[in-house]
Amino acid sequence: MSDRAAIDLALIGGTGLYAFPGLEDLRRQEVATRWGAPSAPIVTGVLSGKRMAFLARHGEAHTIAPHRINYRANLAALHELGARRVIGVNAVGGIRADMGPRAIVLPDQLIDYTHGRVASFCDAEGEPVLHVDFSEPYDAGLRGALLAAARAAGVPVVDGGCYGATQGPRLETSAEIARMRRDGCDLVGMTGMPEAALARELGLEYACLALVANWAAGCDPQASRISLDEIHAHLAAATARVPVIIAALPSA
Ligand code: HPA
Repeated sequence: MSDRAAIDLALIGGTGLYAFPGLEDLRRQEVATRWGAPSAPIVTGVLSGKRMAFLARHGEAHTIAPHRINYRANLAALHELGARRVIGVNAVGGIRADMGPRAIVLPDQLIDYTHGRVASFCDAEGEPVLHVDFSEPYDAGLRGALLAAARAAGVPVVDGGCYGATQGPRLETSAEIARMRRDGCDLVGMTGMPEAALARELGLEYACLALVANWAAGCDPQASRISLDEIHAHLAAATARVPVIIAALPSA
């Protein structure tokens, strides 16, 4: 697994996904990048014939808050290892009525509400500035392949939706979510950006697999408060289906 072109697919695991079950022939690699160290060692291995790389976005013990993640190092490290297709797995809150807890969504758009995060590799004087096209933030081919894989595996997924990226780590107010809904957001999460934009700058094929952990603030039809225990239970149920989808995904 040391040659650079060896990775078929990289996965960045979010809250609730700190190791990828079912990977064989495991190897942990500390990768240093020009942008610093990634959130954790990168674990490479094989899953149903695919050579995979896995990275825990918040660190293996969930110690890195969304606004403190070194998104550049994470993506640069995966790129450095030879990954060209990257799936970001993100815990989210559901805003749209068909995106309740445990739903799995493949968003096709995003709105960025984050602030103060380092959001570009274009950061050094004297180096060319890239204005990448970001009209479609997720790679259509990879999204389509994920959708087909989920269907083949019998895992229901919602095709499309707008991901609103918030700063966190606190959850949102009901008014913030009401505004996001008016803006057209269907989901809310804290880590979708700048990850997607940085992936585009590197020319990676990138898609987001969003796992709904809770109703976003003020969206629960039963109007209950968001409980952390429930979030974890919902997330665990959705996370258990991720390897099933990935196993059904063809090699590139
Ligand atoms: N808001 C933002 N991020 C989240 C949420 C939420 O309600 N649930 C899981 N990640």
